[in-house]
Amino acid sequence: MSYKERQIVSEELIPENPETAEAEPVKQRKNGLYPGISDELAESMRSGWADTELHGLEPIAQAGYTATRRAALSARFPGERLVVPAGNLRTRSNDTEYAFRASTEYAYLTGDRTQDGVLVLEPVEGGHDATIYLLPRSNRDNGEFWLDGQGELWVGRRHSLGEAEQLLGLPAKDVRELPAALAESTGPVRVVRGHDAGIEAALTDKVTAERDEELRVFLSEARLVKDAFEISELRKACDATARGFEDVVKVLDKAEATSERYIEGTFFLRARVDGNDIGYGSICAAGPHATTLHWVRNDGPVRPGELLLLDAGVETEELYTADVTRTLPVNGSFTPLQRKIYDAVYEAQEAGIAAVKPGAAFRDFHDAAQRVLAEKLVEWGLLGDLTVEKVLELGLQRRWTLHGTGHMLGMDVHDCAAARTEAYVDGVLEPGVCLTVEPGLYFQADDLTVPEEYRGIGVRIEDDILVTEDGNRNLSDTLPRQADEVEAWMAGLKG
Ligand code: GLY
Ligand code: MN
Ligand code: MN
Repeated sequence: MSYKERQIVSEELIPENPETAEAEPVKQRKNGLYPGISDELAESMRSGWADTELHGLEPIAQAGYTATRRAALSARFPGERLVVPAGNLRTRSNDTEYAFRASTEYAYLTGDRTQDGVLVLEPVEGGHDATIYLLPRSNRDNGEFWLDGQGELWVGRRHSLGEAEQLLGLPAKDVRELPAALAESTGPVRVVRGHDAGIEAALTDKVTAERDEELRVFLSEARLVKDAFEISELRKACDATARGFEDVVKVLDKAEATSERYIEGTFFLRARVDGNDIGYGSICAAGPHATTLHWVRNDGPVRPGELLLLDAGVETEELYTADVTRTLPVNGSFTPLQRKIYDAVYEAQEAGIAAVKPGAAFRDFHDAAQRVLAEKLVEWGLLGDLTVEKVLELGLQRRWTLHGTGHMLGMDVHDCAAARTEAYVDGVLEPGVCLTVEPGLYFQADDLTVPEEYRGIGVRIEDDILVTEDGNRNLSDTLPRQADEVEAWMAGLKG
């Protein structure tokens, strides 16, 4: 049966109101209409199933952390109802959907990642009561279990509301009751927009864009400083990413014969085999593709003698992602010119990482890295007789450095993106902040302002840096960066 047929059948059988359904058998209400299904089969499907309810479940590892995060949110918006949806499935084509990924805000506050979930903070005396609204186990009496597109027979067992309560440390209710309850509710309310059109529709005459934006901004800024659980997830993501890079190096010979696709698939395979996902589309950019910053087509050849710029990050089950780039000589050895450019980027990254420490301005590491790159470009004669100071004043190095030197990292690869400028770009680093340091030099294949041998070379080195009490820690340092060490590491892996 196709999904569409399932939908048609289920529309006949599934009642609008789940409460009525339990009280009233479907057959009577629908005047005996069971399209294509005998009464005997319908009756058979209702019964004979074991009780699989799970008891005595331990709370998830981050339950204490999510409670602390919710408490901070509650303190910021006293007396207001706060609604944070996970989001819904999105259609890919006809009756197939994209893989679901819960909204960052919802996962951050609950530790849950299931579609259609909604966290509601209800204002009460002295704070808020938090409730999670979820789709419960499928009803077997009314046929939903096997006839609805989201019935558990088709998509797999869900947690019961009781199980979810034990796991998440939150009271859980049926999400199908929520839109009506929200529509009838009174008092100030804010919703995180962009994830669940149905929930937003229920609140449409009660919210304003400005007030909702304040909620989004708060939840973005709350994530600027990571707690211990988040830091351990980011470390896990970096370690898993390193395994993916190692696998890629091991198959580079095969990739030569095929394409960047082989590299993309190899990294993804490692992520999946380890139980993870990827946090963004892997950039597998060989040869001149390395000069395209977000090269995700990954359909080009991988040739010996060229460089492979691999920018990829594993996302853990708890939705924390790494964001790591290594630029590797496909045949295992840098040419002298490749190494000259690589060493310049490495030196810039070293200067950038050294500028990451508590009390430093967020902009400092960018400025430090840009200065080194400008010095190199001047030294190589690519900027005429201009001084480094003049180049930096005019920003002329940016023709080849192209992008900012880093960004916040966490559940989103470009994390905390809704934070205000004063809290982020114009802010000051403090322990617990995690960011990337990722300088690069890119000489486009058609850049007539550089000597021909430079054209088509792109180098970026990217690591994930945690600000600590006394400086920083490189979470992705499992992977070598220095050129000799990269070559030795590759030789070791290729055996
Ligand atoms: N992977 C995207 C970035 O480095 O920002
Ligand atoms: Mn990055
Ligand atoms: Mn990256």
